[in-house]
Amino acid sequence: MSSRMAGSVLLRRAGAGASRLFATTPSPAARAVLGGGEGAWVRLMSTSAASQVKDEAAKAVKAEAAKAVKAEAAKGDGEKKEVAISSYWGIEQSKKLVREDGTEWKWSCFRPWETYTADTSIDLTKHHVPNTMLDKIAYYTVKSLRFPTDIFFQRRYGCRAMMLETVAAVPGMVGGMLLHLRSLRRFEQSGGWIRALLEEAENERMHLMTFMEVAQPRWYERALVIAVQGVFFNAYFFGYLISPKFAHRVVGYLEEEAVHSYTEFLKDLDDGKIDNVPAPAIAIDYWRLPANATLKDVVTVVRADEAHHRDVNHFASDVYYQGMQLKATPAPIGYH
Ligand SMILES: [Fe+2]
Ligand SMILES: [Fe+2]
Repeated sequence: MSSRMAGSVLLRRAGAGASRLFATTPSPAARAVLGGGEGAWVRLMSTSAASQVKDEAAKAVKAEAAKAVKAEAAKGDGEKKEVAISSYWGIEQSKKLVREDGTEWKWSCFRPWETYTADTSIDLTKHHVPNTMLDKIAYYTVKSLRFPTDIFFQRRYGCRAMMLETVAAVPGMVGGMLLHLRSLRRFEQSGGWIRALLEEAENERMHLMTFMEVAQPRWYERALVIAVQGVFFNAYFFGYLISPKFAHRVVGYLEEEAVHSYTEFLKDLDDGKIDNVPAPAIAIDYWRLPANATLKDVVTVVRADEAHHRDVNHFASDVYYQGMQLKATPAPIGYH
């Protein structure tokens, strides 16, 4: 075969191959690869078209749902409201809250309806006299913890308060969590005690948020908090599992010590040993203090909170002492 003839044969074969490649109907080889003949090819084409239609439909449904949520929110009390829908889920994020004087509420960590005026008329001198062996162990455990605390902090009460609040916020959360799990396990109500204990934990955490504005922890204090939390959380967790009566008594005595510490803090403020600086903004809003409130006002309301925690925990321990479960006695919700 001459080179000219060979060239034309090659071109013919290439043309046939190209026509197979670009043909809309698949070649037998392509059909074999697709594994289902022409039917499968058609199905493949129609599936991709169908999924496109499906996507479009889903988008339309999403848009409709968002519109419906918007319309529902706008209905409200008959007024037209501008509600920002940040996502498909319809979560409102830009609803502006205001204080009583009409100024904007700037905290997202707590809302106006979670604030309160502390009852500072509470008796600060109350004390549970330890009579039983268990009470004495609880009492002397707390007293023995006071000794290293006094040495470590001396009279640096701002720092001391901040550090101790990192511990004080643990028992309420542990107790609340264990009562929650018990309620689930036993198919029974808690008498409101889950909420009461979680409220206490939240209140203690707000004490911490407040004192953070007054004193900043140093690196070794942060390390100490991590170590103490690891030990205390586990100790309290197992202590509460074994004897909630003992656990609540320990907290009752811890709160008695907290009342004492804040009284000493106030003395140093009165004597001018600690500057009576303006109250942090977060404290003014949380306890509804006057705009010109000072650190002394803050410590006064925090001490009142501690006295309430003291009473709640001694009361809870007494309930167990009387052979009852907490659920038998309605919990003191919102007791500040
Ligand atoms: Fe506290
Ligand atoms: Fe407390």
